Amino acid sequence: MKQILSFLAVSLTLTVISCGSNDTTTEKQPFTTDDVKTSSAPSGEDLYKRNCASCHMAAGDGIANVYPPLAKSDYLSNREQAIHQVINGSSGKIVVNGKEYNNTMPPQRLNDDEVAAVLTFVYTNRMMENNGQPVTAEEVKAVREKQ
Ligand code: HEC
Repeated sequence: MKQILSFLAVSLTLTVISCGSNDTTTEKQPFTTDDVKTSSAPSGEDLYKRNCASCHMAAGDGIANVYPPLAKSDYLSNREQAIHQVINGSSGKIVVNGKEYNNTMPPQRLNDDEVAAVLTFVYTNRMMENNGQPVTAEEVKAVREKQ
């Protein structure tokens, strides 16, 4: 009986550890409920680094004449337009801060939560100086439904 109990305890602990953390380098960290929240919600910053920074650059300043900036971009004043851009991408002329770009951005394969998180990062991150409000998954859903 004792053996069964300790086996159960060990397997429970292992289950808890493997559910609680995606980060293999910190596997030995004690499990807390906060870990569940942070690991289930997509991080806007991570999504940005993985999906956007290769073109728009880490600080969002883009590349002159090739990739438009997201930092201080007047294009972002229309939130619906910004959400539409991330979902569908675009090809052809686009004017950002008075400068014309004529290039292609592929549609981003992100779900509503991810689009919301990555745009919230773009709108609210101090480095980008956009001073915007967070974008919600509901807003993203509404734009998708309109199409
Ligand atoms: C492969 C390069 C590439 C990637 C990756 C990319 N973009 Fe773009 N993005 C562009 C280009 C090029 C344009 C302008 C498209 C045109 O000329 O029609 C653009 C335009 C935009 C615009 C509108 C103009 C502006 O600068 O405000 C927004 C907003 C935007 N991208 C956000 C994002 C976000 C957020 C991601 C990541 C989820 C992303 N992009 C990923 C290349 C990229």
